[in-house]
Amino acid sequence: MCGIAGYWSFGNEAFPILLKALENLEYRGYDSFGFATISDGKLVIRKAVGRISNSRCDLIEGRMGIAHTRWATHGGVSERNSHPHRDCTNRFAVAHNGIIENYQELRNYLISEGHNFLSETDTEVISHLIEQMVIKDGRNLKKAVMDVSDKIEGRNAFIVLDAFNNEMIASRKGSPLIVGIKGSSDEEKEVFIASDIPAFLEHTNKVMYIDDGEGVIINGSPLFFRLSDGLPVDKRLITIDWSPGQAEKGDYDHYMLKEIMEQKESIRRAANQNPEELMKVAQMINEAKGVFFIGCGTAAKVCQSAEYFFSEIAGRHVNFVPASEFDNYRHFLIPKTLVIAVSQSGETADVLEAISIAREKGSKVISIVNSIGSSMTRVSDYTFMINAGPEKAVASTKATTSQMTVALLLAYACAGKLKEGMRNLVSLAGEVNDMLNPRYIEHIRYVAENISDSRSIFIIGRGVNYPIALESAIKVMEVSYIHAQGFAGGELKHGPIALIEKGTPVIALVADDDVREEILSNAIEVKSRGAFVIGISPENNEVFDLWIRTPPSLGVLSSIINLIPVQLLAYYLGIINNRNVDMPRNLAKAVTVL
Ligand code: F6R
Repeated sequence: MCGIAGYWSFGNEAFPILLKALENLEYRGYDSFGFATISDGKLVIRKAVGRISNSRCDLIEGRMGIAHTRWATHGGVSERNSHPHRDCTNRFAVAHNGIIENYQELRNYLISEGHNFLSETDTEVISHLIEQMVIKDGRNLKKAVMDVSDKIEGRNAFIVLDAFNNEMIASRKGSPLIVGIKGSSDEEKEVFIASDIPAFLEHTNKVMYIDDGEGVIINGSPLFFRLSDGLPVDKRLITIDWSPGQAEKGDYDHYMLKEIMEQKESIRRAANQNPEELMKVAQMINEAKGVFFIGCGTAAKVCQSAEYFFSEIAGRHVNFVPASEFDNYRHFLIPKTLVIAVSQSGETADVLEAISIAREKGSKVISIVNSIGSSMTRVSDYTFMINAGPEKAVASTKATTSQMTVALLLAYACAGKLKEGMRNLVSLAGEVNDMLNPRYIEHIRYVAENISDSRSIFIIGRGVNYPIALESAIKVMEVSYIHAQGFAGGELKHGPIALIEKGTPVIALVADDDVREEILSNAIEVKSRGAFVIGISPENNEVFDLWIRTPPSLGVLSSIINLIPVQLLAYYLGIINNRNVDMPRNLAKAVTVL
């Protein structure tokens, strides 16, 4: 969790650039924020609690600095616990992303050495360790960063700003960090470093990836080195195919709405995969001894959908396991097992941990990822990029349907029906385009108004629409804070039906498929106990109190189509209830802690 950023140039003020970088990284954490710059050879630090804005933090001077936006883990939300954290001598400032698992032991040692801690965070041990190694033990900063990276346990990335030597050094071990470069001559050069590309995308789309186990020195052109032995590492400058507009809200009030609307194009882009690569991976799936789809949260629901896609389209069994539970399956992993990891960020700690279990067992790993250059792309045997573009709202929408698109393509490829699958998905993108018109959206807002003061909302589906019911519940809960639960239609009568009372909203996900009659029967069962039934369906039905129309005859693809109106419904439930839909409480976009 948390977003970190750094900036260096010869002539520009760092603060406005870092402020904008933090606004662009705010989706990673939004409890508090802070900056450190070097001005007249001295460290200047400013911090504030709450949403990022310059009105809450005085401008500070300096052409080099670091910044941080926090999602609290160790220590409550307070200015004191906000980053950057300084050492006792006020020479070093540190911004950190990750969790230092052995921080207690390090903190006790540093206190016994006379260091004075000002916060309750794990991060502060880094500033004091650096101070100890540089000032007391006489190491240079690079060596100290290497030794600190070795000492701290867990997945971490940090940047140290040194006011004495006018330089900053960053270390990556498990948490993401990317360098951006603008300008070619030394005088014009600007160097950015951040947890994610959108932090600096408006300045440059030229990047250099820092790999795990590497560090970088920035006080001019970046110098990359190995954390293990300090040896230099050569890097390629890569041009990212994202425009700054893609990471902006544009005319929309919220990123979430913008990203829902973008699904017209994002599904088409996701479907535009290289057929040869799809066939190669399909062959791996067909020959594998066990296939596991793993992911967390919404991505886990995509994995669960994949079980249905492979069964329906290819008659092939694949397993779905929430990545956080994957350890339980380690005994079933052999080199011929295939693990398919699904993730928007490519940085989710539980998924990375599951991948390392698979690697230990010699299993092959394929990833389905959105974030370019993310950790997962670097630890997989092959990665399908879903090309959804930056997804900034914390609640995943366009990435979800793009991940489903790639899973569907793989299922079609396994069945030897790739061309048919590609055609179907392109025509599905056309249906989404027609569906997302202003009248449709207005109708969904009207449906939301009818149920916005509910205590609980239930969503039911069968077959491919069962995982969609589960995902729909996640969307409603996270952005509206209304309790929502998804069920397989057939499971309701085995317990949850006890919760249905007069007016309880139940959303039924219906498609033109062979479970249509059964799910309608389940809708009748709840209706006869007083439920207010909202049907998402190609045709209206007398059991529905309100109806949201979907295009007919989509078969297995109805899962993607049915999810989109619920995403919109969740959005409007959030808006009507005055929620911060882009940044719901307690959540962060990339969960980089276990
Ligand atoms: C919910 C949501 C989360 C993520 C989960 C995994 O809308 O976005 O449940 O799906 O945290 O994140 P990624 O896909 O980045 O691995």
